[in-house]
Amino acid sequence: MRNRFLTGLALVLLCVWPAAARVGDAGPSAEGRQGMVVSVSRPASEVGRDVLRRGGNAIDATVATAFALAVTWPEAGNLGGGGFMLIYPGGKGEPVVVDYRETAPAGATRDMFAGPGKPSAYAMAGVPGTVRGLALAHARAGRLPWKDLVMPAVTLAADGFAVDEALARSLNRGLARAKDFPEFRRVLGKPDGDWKAGDRLVQPELADTLRLIANRGADGFYKGAVADQIVAEMKRGDGLITAEDLASYQAKERKPVHGTYRGYDIYAPPPPSSGGVCLVEMLNVLENFDLRKQGRWSPDTLHVMAEAMRRAYCDRARYLGDADFVAIPEHLTDKKYAKTLADSIAPERATASEELAKDIAITDESEHTTHFSVIDRDGLAVSNTYTLEDSFGGKLIVHGAGFLLNNEMGDFNPRPGKTTRTGQIGTPPNQVAPGKRMLSSMCPTVVARDGRAVLVTGSPGSRTIINTVLCVVLNTIDFDMPPREAVDAPRMHHQWFPDRVSVEPALRDRHAAALEVLRARGHKFSDRRESQGDAHTIGVRPDGYVGVADRRLSGWAAGY
Ligand code: DON
Repeated sequence: MRNRFLTGLALVLLCVWPAAARVGDAGPSAEGRQGMVVSVSRPASEVGRDVLRRGGNAIDATVATAFALAVTWPEAGNLGGGGFMLIYPGGKGEPVVVDYRETAPAGATRDMFAGPGKPSAYAMAGVPGTVRGLALAHARAGRLPWKDLVMPAVTLAADGFAVDEALARSLNRGLARAKDFPEFRRVLGKPDGDWKAGDRLVQPELADTLRLIANRGADGFYKGAVADQIVAEMKRGDGLITAEDLASYQAKERKPVHGTYRGYDIYAPPPPSSGGVCLVEMLNVLENFDLRKQGRWSPDTLHVMAEAMRRAYCDRARYLGDADFVAIPEHLTDKKYAKTLADSIAPERATASEELAKDIAITDESEHTTHFSVIDRDGLAVSNTYTLEDSFGGKLIVHGAGFLLNNEMGDFNPRPGKTTRTGQIGTPPNQVAPGKRMLSSMCPTVVARDGRAVLVTGSPGSRTIINTVLCVVLNTIDFDMPPREAVDAPRMHHQWFPDRVSVEPALRDRHAAALEVLRARGHKFSDRRESQGDAHTIGVRPDGYVGVADRRLSGWAAGY
């Protein structure tokens, strides 16, 4: 394989010019022989790396990094949200997904968002899953004591830490949109103007909440004082979360979706995320084309990518929801089914999304989730994506507890039966029901070969997430790009409706001629100005790990 040749070449170069060729063990790109953590936030990556150094495994490092991000990246790192953690074993054992997606409160109803007007931040809050999810992962296979993994976050919150450019931007943007949320402004505001790099953010109430979790485990969040604070917060508005909802919340272990792509194994989360099913469905379709021969930026490759995306996202809307509530057909990840989809792609003509099914349209996306990747010296890899849904969730900080609640209920199909071309999806599988998990696109992924992880990746970006992961995986497997290049390369997205290809500005600038060919084939484009995703990724080489923070937002790879 060409990859091996390139790796060999890289090794020769390392021996000849070690200082020039090697990046350090920390930075936006980093190398490590024994372990690596890559996240959006430098202090959080360092907390995880230090746990690995102290003899913790990748699960310990994940727990510590996730708690640290709840302090250092409050727009998406969280205690009050949820997510998915994919664990790929270094040696024996099966990969597993910890599903800690939020659930609809017991008082939720199918039509609760069907009326006109914008639902309140209170009504949008799902029962948080993060703390139970981290505790489940730790109980399953953590090595260090729980308390040791939460305390670094306590220290960051209590003593404060230096805000960097990206966090200053994030906080200032959040504050500008939080005029109606006094607790948010009190807790995350700066009395004398805007946040700037170098300022110190101190969060004493969040430190108290974290201390309870450090001392009492997940019960410190779901039962007792913190649970009471959440319930009291719900009563300030029309929130539905009760003490019973909190006490009965369970994170779940699930079998990952497993696919193969050109000899590699692909592992990603199953429903209630659409990530794994859609990713594997798209890869299965694309396996029918010789992308390497076509070339990464050729019109033919971009065309079949857009067509694979269109078909998988149509199936997403038609079939996917929480599998504990709805039956999900098994054929979606089947290679035979993918062949029928591949055969339905006309080589020189865009399929109109209308041809696949009628009356579904989809809204805009943003980057307010966060993904991080971890690997330890035994090759145990953890790919974790978690979220509050919007940036800072619904901007609702639980009074006195210092943490934000999610507004994840917005991921349910709000208006049953109302599926318009320009509106929202209203198909049955993802309608609200008590205790149900809302459909996600989060797609923490591990690519493996011969029983070893070779790529750990994932991204924020709502529905764009799966396509961001698809781009990184294709760049790596089909086009032999090293991790830095695979992450930097411009991305594209199609989600069935609206029937538009969206491309990053860099793709538009650099490959204008290819896009003209696509236009002539009938593809329509959105005028996307922003970047797509934030894929903090680890690549595995025979001599160690390569961590690459996605430079679109910010981020830090910390290896050792
Ligand atoms: O679960 C999901 O798919 C979304 N709630 C994730 C939200 C997200 O990625 C927002 N910003 N990037």
